[in-house]
Amino acid sequence: MTATAQLRCIACGATPVAAAPNFRCTSCGDLLEFIFPEWSHDPQALKSLWLHRKTLLKPLDQSGVWRFRELLPNIPEEHAITLREGNTPLYDLPRCAHIVGLDTLQAKHQGMNPTASFKDTGMTFAASSAHQQGFRWVACASTGNTSASMAAYAARGNMHSLVLIPEGKISWGKLSQSLDYGALTCQLRTDFDGCVRILNELVRQKPVYLLNSVNPYRIEGQKTAAIELMEQLEWEPPDHIIVPGGNLGNSSAIGKALLEMRDLKLIERLPKLSIIQAHGANPFYRSVKEFGGTRLEPMIADTQATAIRIGNPASWEKALRVLRETGGEVEQVTELEIAEAKAEIGADGIGCEPASAVTLAGLKKLRNRGFVKQGERVVLILTGHLLKDPDFTIKFHRGDLFAGTAYEQQTAQTSQLQRAPVVLDADLRAVIAALDAAERRNS
Ligand code: F0G
Repeated sequence: MTATAQLRCIACGATPVAAAPNFRCTSCGDLLEFIFPEWSHDPQALKSLWLHRKTLLKPLDQSGVWRFRELLPNIPEEHAITLREGNTPLYDLPRCAHIVGLDTLQAKHQGMNPTASFKDTGMTFAASSAHQQGFRWVACASTGNTSASMAAYAARGNMHSLVLIPEGKISWGKLSQSLDYGALTCQLRTDFDGCVRILNELVRQKPVYLLNSVNPYRIEGQKTAAIELMEQLEWEPPDHIIVPGGNLGNSSAIGKALLEMRDLKLIERLPKLSIIQAHGANPFYRSVKEFGGTRLEPMIADTQATAIRIGNPASWEKALRVLRETGGEVEQVTELEIAEAKAEIGADGIGCEPASAVTLAGLKKLRNRGFVKQGERVVLILTGHLLKDPDFTIKFHRGDLFAGTAYEQQTAQTSQLQRAPVVLDADLRAVIAALDAAERRNS
């Protein structure tokens, strides 16, 4: 049903028949990726076929991932686990466009997936590969979204799931998802990078299938977000795509899809793919800016955008390759800039979680530097839903988000965006007075 795919090491080029449990090359230890040596497709025929599938009722045709299965490795249909993921909307952000001085600005909202983050596109595919290989247990280390997604897909596929998350450093919304979907959830007294280290040891000792984004099936599934985006743009690429960078699987996947679509002549030119990190979790930014991409120095990460609180990103070499090949840029943004951008996206009636808002904050910097120019078309990838982390949002609007932090004195710049709830007596006159006061503020 799909293409003949081969695993290949991104560093030494070895082509193993099967992957080791930690998905590292057994010769040199680097990451594996799928390549498609015998690919030949008629681009017009593919475009028509994918569009036609939207009218069909079979679950796999209704999935925004499996609909594009010609560009994915082969997984037999009986193993496919789908929640009709993908199919996410592309929205205009007119107020945000105005703020950054562009005529238009669009956002592809991957938070509109079944478990409310972009992880579902990779998880449907990688969980299906676990099912195909007959695993009883799947596992991941996570900052919360991977674990929520994995737990859901494991449950749908009748597999058990083990979640390793950093204690106290993920949002309640995400934690509650993995509990409800039935995962064995372990909160470890460490950070995300510490969870990854334990998991890598565990998969060597136990027959547990690793579902972090080092698993190349995850990357393949996540590619489809970029394919779907191009379809939504009628195969006319934008000038820029901007993504948040944490473990750097998503940027690698979107970049891989862009390069493959260019090679297959599905698109005629490449958008520039730029990657934005939080200032307190910026190892990739520093790798590019300080070390010319020659190495990555792990760090202890710290940011309230907990999804991207990652100090030792696994896929940094893959991300570097697509950054270079597409001509994209890296940027870093402060906690204040993230909070401000999140509220601005919210004010466009869209909303997203803090890690997604780094895209708009980063775009402002790329505009100021002249890298993104007036008249260019830009798409932000919003990775998670607003309701993933309501604590952050409520604290921001109440003015508590930066209490006791280095940013406490600078919050005047965000006060315009704050909308703290008003507590009133149950009295009509009080409500009318509040309404009139709001009207005076707005006019
Ligand atoms: N945005 C959100 C909402 C995320 O959850 C993540 C990563 C990213 C951006 C960064 O993507 O890692 O592919 O560069 N979350 C992972 C998790 C690490 O465990 O949920 P990345």
